[in-house]
Amino acid sequence: MKKIPLVDVKAQYAPLLQELRERISDVLDSGEFILGPNVKAFEREAAAFLGVPQTVGVANGTDALVLVLDALGIGPGDEVICPAFTFYATAESIARRGATPVFADIDAATLNLDPADVAARVTGRTRAIIPVHLFGRPAPLAELAELGVTIVEDAAQAFGAGGTATTGVASTYSFYPTKNLFGIGDGGLVAFTDEELAERVRMLRFHGSRDKVDFQFIGYNSRLDEIQAAALRVFLPRLTGWNASRREAAARYAELGLGEACELPEDEPGHVYHLFVSRSPERERLRAALADAGIASGVYYETPLHLQPALRYLGYEPGSLPETERAAAENFSVPLWAGVPPDVQERVVAVIREAASVGVSS
Ligand SMILES: Cc1ncc(COP(=O)(O)O)c(C=O)c1O
Repeated sequence: MKKIPLVDVKAQYAPLLQELRERISDVLDSGEFILGPNVKAFEREAAAFLGVPQTVGVANGTDALVLVLDALGIGPGDEVICPAFTFYATAESIARRGATPVFADIDAATLNLDPADVAARVTGRTRAIIPVHLFGRPAPLAELAELGVTIVEDAAQAFGAGGTATTGVASTYSFYPTKNLFGIGDGGLVAFTDEELAERVRMLRFHGSRDKVDFQFIGYNSRLDEIQAAALRVFLPRLTGWNASRREAAARYAELGLGEACELPEDEPGHVYHLFVSRSPERERLRAALADAGIASGVYYETPLHLQPALRYLGYEPGSLPETERAAAENFSVPLWAGVPPDVQERVVAVIREAASVGVSS
């Protein structure tokens, strides 16, 4: 039987190949590859989509975070609170600036930051909080905003998720080719509610300059390129449909009874299901059954960030973030992409249900 991947990006862009080829061809004809008309147009179109005044295209989602923290003047001696149940880049960006990542625990139901635990970790040195909209689910921004600390949203996994992008001073995106909105290579974006900050990041991505004549700050070379922007302009108008399709697929998993075999991600209206991540203390057995049936599955942040070798200097011990560590031990994802065929989902659910009921009867 045909193997089922976890994400089928190619199936998503297959109907758009002709249009993609034409747009890339236009870039080749123009000879403009860096900060040309596609990047400018994409920045405008993305801002309109997200409902923010400005966006700035950068090289990837990691740089997006580093540049924002730099523009905020965050560096040595400063603390930034973030989750440990996220991709490494969230904390890496803080450490890259010479600041100290402070890890807060997550809420067991949402897998996003637990605002009460964040509140307990705010000190006189806290300069920002980076909530991650994990797996496409909006983080509790309203509760975090009550703490009165600058918020930078790590929205790498959540382009277009409801309620995001307009609370923090900036939200950062990755266009890594498995994301909800993806490029055909690396790419990133920062969306701003604060226009002064936008101008600073715009300069930072270009060596701290507006014109390559006067260099105002020590900056970076971190630009979204024209070919990526051209592809993103083909994909952006499809994103609302793609996100709706992901939500339908998530609802279908629930309807098919997957929730009787494992704990499903709790739905909420803004969730765009970048990934469909469930939980089970028996996940290894369920994943083995999926693998035997030729179905891919995934596990995320198995070693959470506070226990990663590079961050050991921060001094966290196993057991220090109990919900994070439990989620790391129990989470697993099953295939989901925009347009995932219902019969694929039926196969996934049948295999998991059978594996889970073996567990019940033995
Ligand atoms: C939560 C999170 N933050 C940051 C990043 C970094 O993005 P990039 O890979 O584009 O640098 C990613 C994705 O890879 C991510 O999932």
